[in-house]
Amino acid sequence: MKTLTSFVIIIFLQSLLVHIFCLHQTSSNGILEYSSSTFPSDFLFGTASSAYQYEGAFSTDGKSLNNWDVFTHENPGKILDENNGDIAVDQYHRFREDIQLMTFLGVNSYRFSISWSRVLPRGKLGGINYSGIKYYNILINSLISRGIKPFVTLNHMDYPQELENRFQSWLNPEMQNEFGYLADICFKHFGNRVKYWTTLNEPNQQVILAYITGRFPPSRCSSPYGNCSRGNSEIEPFIAAHNMILAHAKAVNIYKTKYQREQKGSIGIVVQTSWFEPISDSIADKDAAERAQSFYSNWILDPVIYGKYPKEMVNILGTALPQFSSNQVKSLNNSKVDFIGINHYTSYFIQDCLTSSCNAGYGAFKAEGFALKLDRKGNVSIGELTDVDWQHIDPEGFHKMLNYLTDRYPNIPMFITENGFGDLQKPETTDKELLHDTKRIQYISGYLEALQVAMRDGANVKGYFVWSLLDNFEWLDGYKLRFGLFHVDYTTLKRTPKESASWYKNFIEEHVNRRELVDN
Ligand SMILES: *[C@@H]1O[C@H](CO)[C@@H](O)[C@H](O)[C@H]1NC(C)=O
Ligand SMILES: *[C@@H]1O[C@H](CO)[C@@H](O)[C@H](O)[C@H]1NC(C)=O
Ligand SMILES: *[C@@H]1O[C@H](CO)[C@@H](O)[C@H](O)[C@H]1NC(C)=O
Ligand SMILES: *[C@@H]1O[C@H](CO)[C@@H](O)[C@H](O)[C@H]1NC(C)=O
Repeated sequence: MKTLTSFVIIIFLQSLLVHIFCLHQTSSNGILEYSSSTFPSDFLFGTASSAYQYEGAFSTDGKSLNNWDVFTHENPGKILDENNGDIAVDQYHRFREDIQLMTFLGVNSYRFSISWSRVLPRGKLGGINYSGIKYYNILINSLISRGIKPFVTLNHMDYPQELENRFQSWLNPEMQNEFGYLADICFKHFGNRVKYWTTLNEPNQQVILAYITGRFPPSRCSSPYGNCSRGNSEIEPFIAAHNMILAHAKAVNIYKTKYQREQKGSIGIVVQTSWFEPISDSIADKDAAERAQSFYSNWILDPVIYGKYPKEMVNILGTALPQFSSNQVKSLNNSKVDFIGINHYTSYFIQDCLTSSCNAGYGAFKAEGFALKLDRKGNVSIGELTDVDWQHIDPEGFHKMLNYLTDRYPNIPMFITENGFGDLQKPETTDKELLHDTKRIQYISGYLEALQVAMRDGANVKGYFVWSLLDNFEWLDGYKLRFGLFHVDYTTLKRTPKESASWYKNFIEEHVNRRELVDN
């Protein structure tokens, strides 16, 4: 009886809360209105991941070594905790448990990537490995059976090492054919169930790290951009990106001509974006901020959408920038994306280094557009600074970024394919502190608020994925930089929800509920 009474009281309180949430807006004529959610009913709320950072099982079931396996094994000193993705969070064996975590969150989509070396251990040579195909089939089916739509990246930084050894991977146009082959096999085997495809994850950021600063494999660069034993930071990044753009176009072409009519999915590409705020009102700094965008996300999106490189790149790079032949322009034009995927984490101030001299620093040189990236102007920072040197909390920058993309690429739907907050684990950091992640909640709620403002301004955004479901292998930061809504204990691989997991669950629930009330 007592339980029944409290049950009734709880129900009463709950409905009161629903009313407070939904009836808080009063129009000018005094009539109460439902405050509707900005998010349409088909909006995807999800979490994001990638194969190398999550799967582990690095040599299981016929998987070959990829560029990251080899790089981390050969250069442990380059990884903050001298670790690697051999085990990562072992999602290869624990995906069922992870899908339960997604069910707890109430997400309706999961972004993951295909491990190239699991499916095609030697690329086009040597055939398909059906153990790899089987793994992704089971993962996809398990997600769908829980109402979670697979959102699949064909390639997220990792490729069979053999392709590097044989022909230098992305520096060689042959990589376009290799990628087209991978794409075709994935559409063929998974496309009857996967309705959201992206080709490459962040080609812009991958190329900068691999061929300008040389900090990612294949560790190619030249001075003053980095310290590598081979490479040319003012030539190679533009060749690699050119091959990536054409590889993307090839995959989209294959999808559009062979699969899309029957499979009825959509396909896009994912770029990394940052908001670049001119450090002063001078024309030179404003131009520099525009150059910074052109040497970053526009570098990829302009060719994909308009078939040509941004004019700022053409002006500065001259003949170092490859040209699209008329056939390639046609191929780009015939492979229009259905959407673009936007990864976004941070903002910078930008200072011109073309017409005045700059201190050396990230962005200051030719291959980066002579646009120095700074986190502060005098003693004013671009947003709240964090322990992570590149992460500055600036939701308004996200709002500006989405408006910028909407202006530059009108009518193309967007998915926010990554956004999240990293905790850098210091020796004194306790698990309790990591679980009590108020900064992450503050960050994500600020960025989701900015997203809604941008959508009301007209940004055509169809989904939002938090990076990341779990703490995972964060490239050069190893396991020390934690982005998860769920904490991972790396000795037991136990997953524990952080406070942000409950926060995200409630956010999704509230928006879905508001939507249903409005729909009724
Ligand atoms: C696929 O993996 C299995 C191990 O599961 C291995 O025996 C087989 O040789 C591999 N096949 C190819 C084509 O790589
Ligand atoms: C560059 O790398 C080499 C070899 O790894 C190392 O010996 C040297 O100290 C590095 N130089 C700088 C300036 O970091
Ligand atoms: C791009 O394709 C459209 C048809 O979809 C065509 O009208 C246009 O001329 C093409 N542009 C180029 C540069 O090939
Ligand atoms: C920034 O510097 C100015 C002048 O040096 C000073 O007046 C101001 O209080 C400083 N602001 C902050 C937030 O430290």
